[in-house]
Parts: sequence; structure tokens; C-alpha cells
Amino acid sequence: MDKFIPVNEPSLGEREKELLIECIDTGWISSEGPFVERFENSFSNKVNRKYGISCSSGTAALDLAVASLNIGPGDEVIMPTFTIISCASSVIRRGAKPVLIDADPKTWNMNVKEIEASITSKTVAIMAVHIYGLPVDMDPLLEIANKYKLIVIEDAAELIGAKYKNNPCGSFGHISTFSFYPNKQITTGEGGMVVTNDIQISNRCKSLRNLCFQKNKRFIHEELGWNYRMTNLQAALGIAQLEKLESIIKVKIKNGEIYNQFLEGIRGLETPLKKTSYAENIYWVYGILINSEISTAEEIMGKLKVSNIGTRPFFYPMHKQPVFKEMGIFDNKPFPISEDLYKKGFYLPSGLNLKFENIKKVSEVLKNFIQ
Ligand SMILES: Cc1ncc(COP(=O)(O)O)c(C=O)c1O
Repeated sequence: MDKFIPVNEPSLGEREKELLIECIDTGWISSEGPFVERFENSFSNKVNRKYGISCSSGTAALDLAVASLNIGPGDEVIMPTFTIISCASSVIRRGAKPVLIDADPKTWNMNVKEIEASITSKTVAIMAVHIYGLPVDMDPLLEIANKYKLIVIEDAAELIGAKYKNNPCGSFGHISTFSFYPNKQITTGEGGMVVTNDIQISNRCKSLRNLCFQKNKRFIHEELGWNYRMTNLQAALGIAQLEKLESIIKVKIKNGEIYNQFLEGIRGLETPLKKTSYAENIYWVYGILINSEISTAEEIMGKLKVSNIGTRPFFYPMHKQPVFKEMGIFDNKPFPISEDLYKKGFYLPSGLNLKFENIKKVSEVLKNFIQ
């Protein structure tokens, strides 16, 4: 049997080893170590932000972002339904309410045209989440936010190193968040980052990630925070990975283009949009849609698994989540595009160690199942 082709794999090398050894040799392994601030500075610099606040995951970054903005009971935050649960949970845990927007059928991002109609007197923020390879159309979103004086939170977890009209993803709105899970463009094992240009928001995030310890009265707490600190070991990986970001993006784009060559034009299968008027696809993952007359995503994923090919389903929309149904968070409003994406979509192996032969094999096996 052929070797398993994983859905994702990071690319780690000598530089990562070198910096990790430095952590061990110096004994700096906790969040107190010098790599943490170095990583925060170089990362925030890369996305044109003044301040970077590292943390333990992309989920933690969203928790910090929402809490630092004082979003709370009675507030509404507009966000996509087609996203990861971390976006909604960060808002719900503060006692606020996510107000969901359906996806655009081509870019799979939130349909910005539907935002304005969802604004109420309770709306305080819009959470823009970039999905899979193309960014949200930020200009019209920022225009609406400006018009209604709303906060903009940008979740750029999936688009490290991508650009929207020549500006880096993560540079838009009041605050942006990232994840460094191993399937992301760069990884720290687990990890995340909040970036902002606002010193007060930055200071609040730093306090919230560190249990809200006080400088002069350490164990006296006036607010509840978390231990969401990033370790020096994670930051060491982050520094080494960030040095390679541009070449990693090139590999992702090249792999996406190879998939396109093999899969474009096949009846019953839809490949991802290559570009929009505002951005090029950087193929964080290579997502495809299966025509419902042919099969379902679930069935094809099952067949690929038997052929030793790893895949992941698309996001299960927030309004369908059993946990939120149980909590009575959303009414029964349907979001047909997102529901359709879940039924039809999944992503193919998109790791950084993929070879041309792997992509060829995956594409041929897939074609066989579809034709
Ligand atoms: C858009 C988005 N936001 C947030 C997260 C959460 O990041 P983490 O897994 O580091 O908690 C992810 C994870 O994949 C994500 O895709």
C-alpha cells in the first residue's frame, strides 16, 4: 500500500533546531524568555502593526481580542456562519451574541453585501474571518464599519502572509488575530498572536493573557484573565518559521496551481477561485466542491481515506452547531450557501512537504472516484 499522504504537514528544519537548542542551553523555556518579545516584534512588523501580543493559540487570540474590546452582555457581533467555532465562542463566552452572515458561493468568505442589513442598535463589532485562501473583501466591510462606528476584528489565522490589495492580512481594523497551529503557513506547535496599533488594547491583551496579575500587587486581581502565555520554545520556532514565510507562501501557491492543472474542468468538481479583483488565492488549503448529483463530500473523503489520502471536511456552520442549539443562541434562520458548502466541500492534502507526485496521485485517485 502507498504511503499515507497527510492532509497537512509543517516544514521544520535546522534553524528551528538551532533556536530550540538555544532555549535548552540557556534554560529559557517559559514565557519569560527573550524570543517571545523578539517574535512579537518581528511578526507585528511583518503585518504592519505596532504591537504584537503572542499567546497560546488562535482561539486564545480571539478570546483576548474580544475581551480587550470590552464586548459583553447585550452586544452583537456580526460574523460569518461558515467559520471555526473559536470565532463564535469568543463572543458567546463574554455574554454577547454572534449575528451570522452567509458565505459568498465563490470565495467562501462572508458575503459582505449582507452585513448592512444585519446591523441593529446592539451591533458593536464586525468580525471578518479570512477563509481557506482568499481574504474577505475588506474595503466595503471597513466602509460599513466606519459608517456605523463599529469595531473591526480581523481573524487572519488562515492567511498569514496573504495580501488584500497590497496590504497584509492582519493589518485591517482595530485588532487582528492569528493562529500558529501546525497546519498554518508558519507554526509554533500551538500558538497565536493578537496585533493592533492601539497601545491601550495591547496593554489590556497583555494583562488578560497573564491572569491580570498587577505590577505592584501581584496576587491581587481586579479582573479575570487567563494563562494564555506563549513559551520561549514556541517563540523560537516562530522566529525560525517567520524567516521562511515568503518561501512557504510560494510553495503553497505552487501546489495550488499544480492541483488546478490536474483538476480544473473536471465535470462534477469545482476548484477554488484563483483570484478576485482584490486578491490572489494563496491556497492555505486546497478546497474543492463535489457536485451533489455525483456524490457528497463525506462519501468521497471516505473513499480517499481508504486510498491512504488524508482530507478534512469544510466548516460546519455555526447556526447548525448542536452546542449552540442546546444553548438557544440562534433562531432557525437558514444560511443555504454555508450549508451547501459543508455538504459539498472538503480539502485535499495541502502540507508543505507535498511532492509533485503526491499531488498527481491525489488528483488521479479523486478523478477516478468522480468520473
Ligand atoms: C479562522 C480561524 N480562526 C481561529 C482558529 C483557531 O486557532 P487555534 O487552532 O490555534 O486555536 C482557526 C484554526 O484553524 C481558524 O481557522
